[in-house]
Amino acid sequence: MQPDLSILVGTMTGTADIVAEEVRDWLAGQGVASEIRSMVDLDPAVFEAGRTYLICTSTYGQGDVPDNARDFFAALERTRPDLAGVTFGLIGLGDSTYKETFCFGGKRFERLLTDLGATLLGEAFYHDAADGTLPEEEAVTWVADWFSAAEPLKRAA
Ligand SMILES: Cc1cc2nc3c(=O)[nH]c(=O)nc-3n(C[C@H](O)[C@H](O)[C@H](O)COP(=O)(O)O)c2cc1C
Repeated sequence: MQPDLSILVGTMTGTADIVAEEVRDWLAGQGVASEIRSMVDLDPAVFEAGRTYLICTSTYGQGDVPDNARDFFAALERTRPDLAGVTFGLIGLGDSTYKETFCFGGKRFERLLTDLGATLLGEAFYHDAADGTLPEEEAVTWVADWFSAAEPLKRAA
């Protein structure tokens, strides 16, 4: 059976993986079954109308998506699939020390998916590593709010 939610992870050093696991575990407690998929294995066909996704990605270089997300992001930009009917949430990891490009990895996904017709559910969450909080803890606080805004997931639970 298909999971209720696919969490798509872009990471360089694994922080976004930890965040994804914590969020998956919290949602499991609400009766939502999630799969975690590395973006390195993905192509644009992963998106199916009627399903919900959670993008969980950090930022590297000069506001770039992580290396393991590059091909996926570029393929979406190149092929521009129609993502009408796709809903998504967004967790972006970054560090405001990089003030010109803070959380651009997540922000680039938010803009691209929206441009392609997908609908952002609730508010995106952008974590700032410079504020000294742990992203996996903050993300679990955020996901509780996100879940209450995410009607398709509440119906699945
Ligand atoms: C070399 C390097 C470049 C980075 N560039 C940015 C950046 O441009 N903007 C930003 O907001 N964060 C930037 N970061 C911060 C990371 O996105 C942040 O530490 C994140 O939590 C790492 O998550 P990950 O382990 O999942 O890759 C950078 C970090 C490193 C080490």
